[in-house]
Parts: sequence; C-alpha cells; structure tokens
Amino acid sequence: MTYILGIETSCDETAAAVVKDGCEIISNIVASQAKIHEQYGGVFPEVASRQHILHIIPVLNDALTQAGVELEEVGAVTVTYGPGLAGSLLVGVNVAKALALAKGLPLIGINHLEAHIYANWLQGEEKILFPLLCLIASGGHTNLVLMTGHGEYQPLGQTLDDAAGEAFDKVARLLGLGYPGGPAIQRAAKDGDPAAFDLPRAWLKGSYDFSFSGLKTAVLYLVRGYGTDGKSKAWNEDGDGLPVADLAASFQAAVAEVLVEKTRLAAQGRGARQVLLAGGVAANTLLRQRMRERINVPVLCPSLELCTDNAACVAAVGWFKFQAGERAGWDLDVLPGLKLTSR
Ligand code: KG4
Ligand code: ZN
Repeated sequence: MTYILGIETSCDETAAAVVKDGCEIISNIVASQAKIHEQYGGVFPEVASRQHILHIIPVLNDALTQAGVELEEVGAVTVTYGPGLAGSLLVGVNVAKALALAKGLPLIGINHLEAHIYANWLQGEEKILFPLLCLIASGGHTNLVLMTGHGEYQPLGQTLDDAAGEAFDKVARLLGLGYPGGPAIQRAAKDGDPAAFDLPRAWLKGSYDFSFSGLKTAVLYLVRGYGTDGKSKAWNEDGDGLPVADLAASFQAAVAEVLVEKTRLAAQGRGARQVLLAGGVAANTLLRQRMRERINVPVLCPSLELCTDNAACVAAVGWFKFQAGERAGWDLDVLPGLKLTSR
C-alpha cells in the first residue's frame, strides 16, 4: 500500500491530494482562483502565480490533515511540471522539491495532460482496456491520442488554433456570460435552441486535427449584429435583444458535434476498445451525452470535479510512474510547452 502526494499549480487552481495505490482518493483539495480572474475574462498569469504562493502551504496542510497522513508516510511527492503557465508551475515544482528534499522522499515530475487522462483511473468502476482513444479537451489543449499501454501515447490530432475550452471562454466573453466560459455557456444553453444558428463546423476532412477559431469568429459577427448574410442587423450595438441562449446553445452544439465525430472516427479507425474523456470540457453534459450515444465502445468520463484541474489525478499517474521506477532529479525544471509523449 502506497500513498502518493500530488501537487498541481499549472494554471489557476492551487491543488494538493493524497491518493492510495493510484486509484483511491484519500484527500483532494482545490483552491480555485476563478473568482479573481473573472474580472479579466481569463487567467491573469502574474496574479495566478502570486495566488499560488499564498495558497500552496494551506492547501498542502489541508490535504495531509484531511487524509490523516504524515508527510513521512507518503511514498513520493509528484508535481505537475508542464504544460502550463511558467510562473504558476514554478510554485508547485519548487514546493515539491523542498518537501522531497527535506523528508528524503522521491520526486516525480508529471505531465499535466497525462494527469487529466489518469483522472479516469480514479473512478473505480469499469476496468480500463488498451488500446483506448483519449480526447483531452481543456482550456489550453484539444488532443486526440491513442493510448496503447500505461505511459504509451500516439498523438493523432490536435487543435490548429484555439483549444475547445478556450473557444468556450472567448465566446462566453462575447456573450457577456463571465469566466470560466464552459459552465456559463452550458447554463445559458439550457434555455436556447441549438438549431437557431447554423454555425460553421471545421471538419478538416482526412485529419484528426481541430479548428475552433472560425466558429468563434462566426459568433463574433453575429454578436456585432451581422447575420450570416453579412447584412442584417437584428439587435442594437449595446447587445439589447441579443439571443444569448440560442447563440450559446448553437455554439455548444457545434463544438460537441465536431469533438464527438472526430473522436468516433479515430476510435473506429484505430480499433480502440474504449474512449476516455479528459480535461475541463469533458465536464460538458451535452458532450458526455452525445459521446455515449454516438460511439459504440464504452465511453468513460471522470466525475465532474475530476475533469477540471486537480491534484488527485497528478497523484494517480504519479503512482504508476513510482511503480515503474521513474524519478526526477533535483534539476527538475518547469516546461510550459511540454508535449504528451511516450515515456
Ligand atoms: O482542464 P481545465 O480545468 O484547465 C486546463 O488545463 O485548461 O479546463 C478548463 C477549461 C475552461 O476553458 C472551461 O471553460 C472549460 O474547461 N470547462 C467547460 C465546462 N467546465 C469547464 N467547457 C464546457 N462545458 C463545461 N461544463
Ligand atoms: Zn488542465
């Protein structure tokens, strides 16, 4: 039996967790800065790193206290070292190094994208079978990856411009719905008609890549009052009369349709036995529902709080790396542009 301590500070959540044997959450503390960044309509990097400095020690103390575990009892300290915001990542990595050095514990660096995927190992329901197709859709990434074993990844496609979550955040801002945009659009879309606006879908035929910037621009033109014919002005410049619910519903339907269809094609094309969803956008109800309706292999999704950034999934992947003998040196540095590659 091994406890792993996870630390996550790659973006705007300061998080620490204790996980037993890679699959059982003992504690999972997340201090979100969303309220602070809301006024900027997105994450303000300098503010984010300062907030991490303020919160990391209390969050770590809470994670250990709630778990009833002493630092000396953990098998390893695992920490996200990329991708993410450099100043934010630095806080977690340096705290992890200090703890590991002070207590003589192994230190393991974790790729944030891999952590998102391993949130699925914390659900404890269904057995996970390789090869599987994984869709990671978050604020910074949209990747389709074939996973053939633990730590074995074959990248199949990615976004050529905006990430799916980024598109949700930007469109929410255009519609005056606040930050983070995903949950706000999902709420607004409940009262809207997904067929109200025929928004563009970038199919990029023959590739598993994505593009969401055209869709975002189409919403921008509509918000500015131009119809798809480029002429009609249906609402005034202050946005009075803007059909926010219909736009939110039409946008959400367009993103979900492309994500589902590309995931379905990739899963079929590569003979995947399961599909795994990961990242903040995987919390979207319509996306989860459509994936399950359209894909004919089991679709696994993390619980809602494990889709968005947390440290339990860092500790989950950390346990597999710990078992495999992976260790980081004291020269572990942050890698803001880290890619998902096989070990
Ligand atoms: O994985 P995450 O917490 O952080 C990153 O690694 O980026 O993802 C955050 C992103 C944000 O863009 C947010 O708007 C989006 O996930 N998101 C959602 C939903 N909940 C969060 N997008 C669509 N529907 C949701 N329910
Ligand atoms: Zn994330």
